[in-house]
Amino acid sequence: MDKYLSETITLIKTNLPTHSYLREVVFLDKIHEIKAYQVLDSRGNPTIKVVIKTKKHIGYAFVPSGASTGLYEAVELRDNKKAYNGKGVEKTVDIINKKINKQLKGIKVTEQEEVDLELKRLDATENKSKIGANTILGVSLAVSRAAAQAKDKELYEYLAELFKNKKKLMLPIPQANVLNGGEHAGNYLKFQEFLLIPTGAKSFAEAMRMVGETYHVLKKIIDDKFGINATNVGDEGGFAPPIRTPEEALELVSEAITKAGYKRKIRIGMDVAASSLYNENEYDIGVSFSAKGLTSYYDRLFSKYDIKSIEDPFEQDDNEAWQEFMNTVAKKRRVQVVGDDLTVSNPHRVRRAINNNLCNAIILKPNQIGTLTETLKAAEMAFDAGWEVIVSHRSGDTEDTYISDLAVGIGASQIKLGAPCRGERTSKYNRLIEIEANLKKKGYAGKKVKF
Ligand code: PGA
Ligand code: ZN
Repeated sequence: MDKYLSETITLIKTNLPTHSYLREVVFLDKIHEIKAYQVLDSRGNPTIKVVIKTKKHIGYAFVPSGASTGLYEAVELRDNKKAYNGKGVEKTVDIINKKINKQLKGIKVTEQEEVDLELKRLDATENKSKIGANTILGVSLAVSRAAAQAKDKELYEYLAELFKNKKKLMLPIPQANVLNGGEHAGNYLKFQEFLLIPTGAKSFAEAMRMVGETYHVLKKIIDDKFGINATNVGDEGGFAPPIRTPEEALELVSEAITKAGYKRKIRIGMDVAASSLYNENEYDIGVSFSAKGLTSYYDRLFSKYDIKSIEDPFEQDDNEAWQEFMNTVAKKRRVQVVGDDLTVSNPHRVRRAINNNLCNAIILKPNQIGTLTETLKAAEMAFDAGWEVIVSHRSGDTEDTYISDLAVGIGASQIKLGAPCRGERTSKYNRLIEIEANLKKKGYAGKKVKF
């Protein structure tokens, strides 16, 4: 039966007055209309924007898209037609405007779990490939924004409530990707990301100042060494100079940190994205390494440079390598070991990583799993295991600032947002600056992390 009709019948049955004012109040926070649009992401590829309306509120969300996607990520639905070289998302738009709009109409926007269950039911596949994780995520996130409005809360306040986060709200430490390689840049550097982690700041605003200054010092160093052409930026706003080895990258980043005056106040992170380098038990980083050889190589890098965090150091199914690394090198050097392709924000993959002691932190990307409910579940599991959570953008992203609120709401100690450059990255940094300025009781996670 139509949900409006059944509500009305219930009202009549229970003898409540069906006066139009009351009906307005009762239906106020229910989904009235869902509409999707095909728009563009930061790489110039199509993605969707979803807008959800109740009679009084509006929620929206954009969906990002990765390049170095993990094998176990939920799957995007693309048109595979002539438009946009197959990357169009008109099918997605159509499913939302017709099927999902009809199915979810009448559900309260504050019923996040019910909405997400309904979306999963419509898909009914393990990896959300039927109607698409992009389709599902756009709706799932937009609903929560409408719910925040319905509750007259900031999005981060609402997400904190949904996550049952009772701690004092805290601003995350940024992980700023200032040097790009791998699948994000047109150079020969195999490691994907070299990140600035300003643990020594006292506030988020100060962290941004440190990152911004160091970024410009780095630009000058690259310009002096390689010429102005080498200061063009990769997908996430980091520089992509013509270098080949991780050592060259680490020298550049270390020099920039020192020259900017932030030695030991900005630590270094790396996202190796090793699944992209793996082939038949070998890791190709310019030279070929076995997992054991790569482990020793990391140890040498840790002894020489101020690296405190390493993401996806091994392939997503190379359990033995992760375990060995955790028990030896990472323990000795007290390095944060981060799962991304390994864990894909999927509660099952996170559970598996916890049970096997594969890492001690996870990247949290809502579009890897597709619903807000499952994203929060993955975060909860990681926190319960005593792990760090790093909320993260994708290399193809948009002006949407949702993940900034998500990081604050769940109390993530870190957030990975690219360089302090390009609108789709700065929008998220700027939202965090605004949140910090408006919070009455605020904290910065700098002291909280173990490194
Ligand atoms: P992606 O890269 O968005 O292209 O997957 C980001 C990452 O690997 O962390
Ligand atoms: Zn990664």
